[in-house]
Amino acid sequence: MYDPLNFRASDDRYERGEAFYRRCGRSGILLPAVSLGLWKNFGDTVPYERSRSILLYAFDHGVCHFDLANNYGPHAGAAEQTFGRVMRESLHPYRDELFVATKAGYDMWQGPYGNWGSRKHLMASLNQSLQRMSLDYVDLFYTHRFDPATPLDETLQALVDIVKSGKALYVGISRWPLDATRYALNFLRQRDVPCLCYQGRINLLDREPLTSGILSAVRDAGCGFVSFSPLAQGLLAGRYNQGIPENSRMRRDVTLREEQLTPDLCQKLARFCQLAAERGETPASLALRWVLSQKGVTSVIVGASSAEQLGQSLPAASAPALSEEELAMLECLFETPKGA
Ligand SMILES: NC(=O)c1ccc[n+]([C@@H]2O[C@H](COP(=O)([O-])OP(=O)(O)OC[C@H]3O[C@@H](n4cnc5c(N)ncnc54)[C@H](OP(=O)(O)O)[C@@H]3O)[C@@H](O)[C@H]2O)c1
Repeated sequence: MYDPLNFRASDDRYERGEAFYRRCGRSGILLPAVSLGLWKNFGDTVPYERSRSILLYAFDHGVCHFDLANNYGPHAGAAEQTFGRVMRESLHPYRDELFVATKAGYDMWQGPYGNWGSRKHLMASLNQSLQRMSLDYVDLFYTHRFDPATPLDETLQALVDIVKSGKALYVGISRWPLDATRYALNFLRQRDVPCLCYQGRINLLDREPLTSGILSAVRDAGCGFVSFSPLAQGLLAGRYNQGIPENSRMRRDVTLREEQLTPDLCQKLARFCQLAAERGETPASLALRWVLSQKGVTSVIVGASSAEQLGQSLPAASAPALSEEELAMLECLFETPKGA
């Protein structure tokens, strides 16, 4: 149990060594191979002590990259507020050891400036985020989604100006389509504010950035790639092997629906967990190793509803890359037979 007001980080927090950190594209930044996301479990419906213990456990174990967004909660803004409280109480002396990311683009406040990719929304939202998190600047600021209605140049110029204002050190884009991504990478590079990383979803159940060419385009441009939901919201962590636990995301949240757990998927997940056990690994670790073995992936951003869960994800960060045969074998497990 942590005493928040007398928190002193473990002297061993970097004991995992260099193998735990990976270079983000062709930048100067190293990110932990396993980073922590605050989408769920940090809002105002969760006991503050639990959220704090996950954050402090992360930092104590070398996880120094925290991924937030203006709207993470519930309620929107609450995850940034929780983070801000932990900053003030415990992590303030360690600010220079932290890499804090936030985003803007999804619905945040009422009226025409409360979402999407206008300069007005991005700048106002970042100011609000800094206040909630008790920070002077964020390390990384993303546009959270592609806005088909705002001129790309307006969104991208706002990112450039945000870096020039000192409110963010680096910028990134999340879930942009391929053509717009290529345009953004060029635009930002030409203005000497190269895109640090692209955030997209890669996991054993969803390989879209691999098949669409996003990952290779980003990698070739020297931009990093961080993968969100690498455990498919818990499906790949063995969470649903014995049915649907009462305290699970599937019970609580609309983002993971019961209908997704088809008999076919249950069978595949059971085989995957059995294989992990035969290899002496947790399913979470094996699933994360598959993502981390994709050329161009810098870091996986995991979620956790307890410090123990996060602890199970960490060994993947320092484990060797899987071989081509191992990768293919795992992909095979989840393939849908042709004609099905
Ligand atoms: N850019 C975007 O649009 C976008 C979208 C989504 C997410 N993200 C980012 O990605 C982060 C991670 O997303 P995610 O939370 O969906 O990631 P995830 O790692 O795929 O899923 C995390 C959930 O899996 C379960 N879990 C984790 N470890 C486990 C273990 N060892 N055993 C059993 N269950 C385990 C927990 O669910 P239970 O609650 O059931 O315990 C946990 O909350 C977010 O916090 C956010 O920062 C970004």
